[in-house]
Amino acid sequence: TTPIPRDKDLDSTLKLLLNGYPLLQEKFRHYDSDIFRTRFLGQKAVCIHGQEAAEIFYNPELFERKNAIPKRIQKTLMGENGIQTMDGPEHRRRKELFMSLMTQENINNLMSIMADEWQTSIYKWEEMDEVVLYKEVQDLICRAACAWADVPLKESKVRRRAADFGYMVDAFGAVGPRHWRGKRARSRGEKWIGKVIKDIRKGKLEVREGTAAHAMAWHRDINGELLDIHMATVELMNVLRPIVAIARYVTFAAIALHQYPVHRQILKEDEDNYAELFVQEVRRFYPFTPVLGAHVRTDFEWQNYHFKKGTMVLLDVYGTLHDERLWERPNAFSPERFRDWDGSPFDFIPQGGGDYMTGHRCAGEWITIEAMKVAVNYLTKAMEYRVPNQDLDMSLSRMPTIPVSRFIISQVRATADKP
Ligand code: HEM
Repeated sequence: TTPIPRDKDLDSTLKLLLNGYPLLQEKFRHYDSDIFRTRFLGQKAVCIHGQEAAEIFYNPELFERKNAIPKRIQKTLMGENGIQTMDGPEHRRRKELFMSLMTQENINNLMSIMADEWQTSIYKWEEMDEVVLYKEVQDLICRAACAWADVPLKESKVRRRAADFGYMVDAFGAVGPRHWRGKRARSRGEKWIGKVIKDIRKGKLEVREGTAAHAMAWHRDINGELLDIHMATVELMNVLRPIVAIARYVTFAAIALHQYPVHRQILKEDEDNYAELFVQEVRRFYPFTPVLGAHVRTDFEWQNYHFKKGTMVLLDVYGTLHDERLWERPNAFSPERFRDWDGSPFDFIPQGGGDYMTGHRCAGEWITIEAMKVAVNYLTKAMEYRVPNQDLDMSLSRMPTIPVSRFIISQVRATADKP
């Protein structure tokens, strides 16, 4: 086998935090290779990128997730010891629980609640001088997510709860204040959702069968046991938080409409499935997940390199979404490219790749796509607005990134109910 090119940096962690999304891609270019060795969080790690790399990364025989996610990320973003950290039959059982919520009927219900929330919000925005779109969309999606999941949420609490879900996500690539804010947000959130789970189990709160609250409160693991309160709390939040996080992609969609107005016109005229092409390109083009990590489960060889059991491997998600071998002119925003995309589970991986049931690919990918389509529909067909001067800079060194202004719109006018 060939030795894996070794990166000379002592430890890439700080570099990654400082340089952000493009760092790994620059290194792959530098080494002219799809693989290099480095150190990450004090341990040896191998970075890989590209379609073939994603294919091995998503082979559950070759990789496992146990201990692969740093505790500081679990303590903010996703909660400790949840589905993301599981392997084998335990993971499979837990994944079925999440996927059972993703029926067409359930997704349609969520979309119709979201559509109503959009309409109500647009009427409210008409009365406001300035609308900070990211925050408002976070609120409206949080209302919809809680109604759909059957989690009670008082109107007076919406801003707090929605912001907290946002802060948990906002913490993942942070050190210092943004990380601490994420931790506080998680502890408030777990207190709230923990009480919901307890109340359901005590019969103090009745929830509909088939909803996320009901499913998480009454799920039994492979040993036939109920999840403990903390685990059920973490998993119910693993449904609510990422739905709220769609607000970030909606903000990116609004930026794309602003920066590439030709697409607004096409979307408005409603060519069949253009909205789908558009939201796929938003998910490819704008940075969200930078990398994913796993440990080698068993020794294997790939492209003449040896992977040793226990080694930490990082898959460069952002770099794969901007790989010129997969995407022609990767830094151009072009929804059209998705017309002839073949649907491979290993090249277009903004929410992970591979198989939903046997692997860790995002359980909420269908919801994300549909919710973005609803958003794009409302933004282009149900309202008019202006985009005043503001700081739209989106730093690639901030992970996750978001425009400085959070995207402000003004002079909102509703143009149609129900686009
Ligand atoms: C996993 C991204 C929305 C639920 C993941 C993964 C990524 C991701 C990168 C990890 C894949 C891996 O570990 O290999 C996103 C992004 C979203 C989003 C960028 C857009 C905002 C959602 C939604 C849900 C959801 C709406 C709703 C239920 C989950 C769950 C997992 C997951 C439960 C864990 C799956 C597993 O470990 O088997 N997501 N996601 N996500 N996502 Fe999402």
